[in-house]
Amino acid sequence: MIAGNKLRLGVLGSGKGSNFKAIADAFPAGDAPYEIALVASDVADAGILQLARERGVPAHFIAPGKFRTKLDEVAEPAYIRALQEARVDMVVLAGFMRILKGEFLRAFSGRVINIHPSLLPSFPGLEAWKQALDYGVKFTGCTVHFVDQGVDSGPIIAQQVVPILEKDTAATLHARIQEAEHELYPTTIARMARGRIRVVGRQVWTE
Ligand code: GRF
Repeated sequence: MIAGNKLRLGVLGSGKGSNFKAIADAFPAGDAPYEIALVASDVADAGILQLARERGVPAHFIAPGKFRTKLDEVAEPAYIRALQEARVDMVVLAGFMRILKGEFLRAFSGRVINIHPSLLPSFPGLEAWKQALDYGVKFTGCTVHFVDQGVDSGPIIAQQVVPILEKDTAATLHARIQEAEHELYPTTIARMARGRIRVVGRQVWTE
């Protein structure tokens, strides 16, 4: 994506931060082709902020404002400003529970990615592992995709398959999907940082 320098990531999350941890710890110190410039959360006591601070990564709670599922007109520019001030090249959503639209996506056009716990386009939305289990599919997994104006609908960058076992509960399946996420997300971001991704319409090619 950028030659010479490390890709600077801004990670947004609302929860425990296990994907942040996987991304931050995937390479021995200094070896990653990316660096995490900033972590921001809409939840003041989110685990992801604590994990970031333990690793010396700047971590900020930024109030989301008056809505439940999106950022309000004060919060959205505050997020954009924080990410721009940290000179972020790519925004990595890691369990950020707010829909990002309009102004935000324009500010980081083509540079916002997310990880979703199913093989998209199957089972977008909430509790995707439970949707897959209830539906009875034999394989599910996780998907890294670009974020567009829709819900979990942007071009697919990478996927990893997780088989569903007869003894699975929602909890055991979710745990195995998360293990797959922790492999797929850092690997995919590293590929992107090394400039090995080409986007042609909805098709995303990695080399
Ligand atoms: C992940 O499982 C991801 O699929 C979803 O949000 C979850 C975040 O988990 N988008 P964590 O905070 O990274 O542990």
